[in-house]
Amino acid sequence: MYTFYYLALLVTTVTGAIIDDSETAIINGERASILDYPFYASLRYKVQKAVLCGGSIIQPDVVLTAAHCIGREFQVYVGISDDNDIKEAEAYDVKKIVKHPFYLGLAFFDIALVKLNRSIILSEKVEIAELATENPPEDEEVAIIGFGNPACDEFDNPLKPCTNDASDHLKYAAMTITDVTLGLISSSGQNQNACFGDSGGPMIYDGKVVGVSSQVDRKDCTGGNIYTSVASNRRWINRNLKKLAKI
Ligand SMILES: *[C@@H]1O[C@H](CO)[C@@H](O)[C@H](O)[C@H]1NC(C)=O
Repeated sequence: MYTFYYLALLVTTVTGAIIDDSETAIINGERASILDYPFYASLRYKVQKAVLCGGSIIQPDVVLTAAHCIGREFQVYVGISDDNDIKEAEAYDVKKIVKHPFYLGLAFFDIALVKLNRSIILSEKVEIAELATENPPEDEEVAIIGFGNPACDEFDNPLKPCTNDASDHLKYAAMTITDVTLGLISSSGQNQNACFGDSGGPMIYDGKVVGVSSQVDRKDCTGGNIYTSVASNRRWINRNLKKLAKI
């Protein structure tokens, strides 16, 4: 298994270059509008505003993301469907980060909370996500979204990372739940998948965020993916939201 973390090491040169739609983003996904996923937050490197990870707005000033997304300096953008939107959007700075203490570099407990430096102004494009209290059943269809890379053919060559491959717009893919076990949700898609840069983003079932994007099965992002279960980590999330509210 290959964690999306590798992207964090490689993505620094990724820009919002315009590239062929058929190759962008969540592999083979379709263009998505933030109006359909107004709780989506885009985590961007401070420099160049390049794609780092995704997240979900779960409080006016807290974003849920993956633990492996933490470690680089980033800012948060909301209400974004497109890189053009970013030019006009205001960034939110990070005030405090809480990583799950049991996170050890695997998909288990690969979640973190990011407290922002101020509350997000809500609108039709910016809303609070509803978090699932139960895991999605096997064989059900779920949606995943993100600005991630289509693939990283040159992945093994650190001098030729996945440059210019991040999507310039939000994309959507339909996945089927294959397994739910030990706080992890696995899914596979018909020729579709999450890829580098989609980490931390939501898996959505029944209008609720059920998972946090953690890993792909194969480094070229063919095959399936693994999401950290929101329901399994609900108590940790709730406890830490209370703590963050006092900061
Ligand atoms: C929060 O961060 C943004 C982005 O750097 C900045 O423009 C804004 O002034 C900050 N707000 C507060 C209240 O610190």
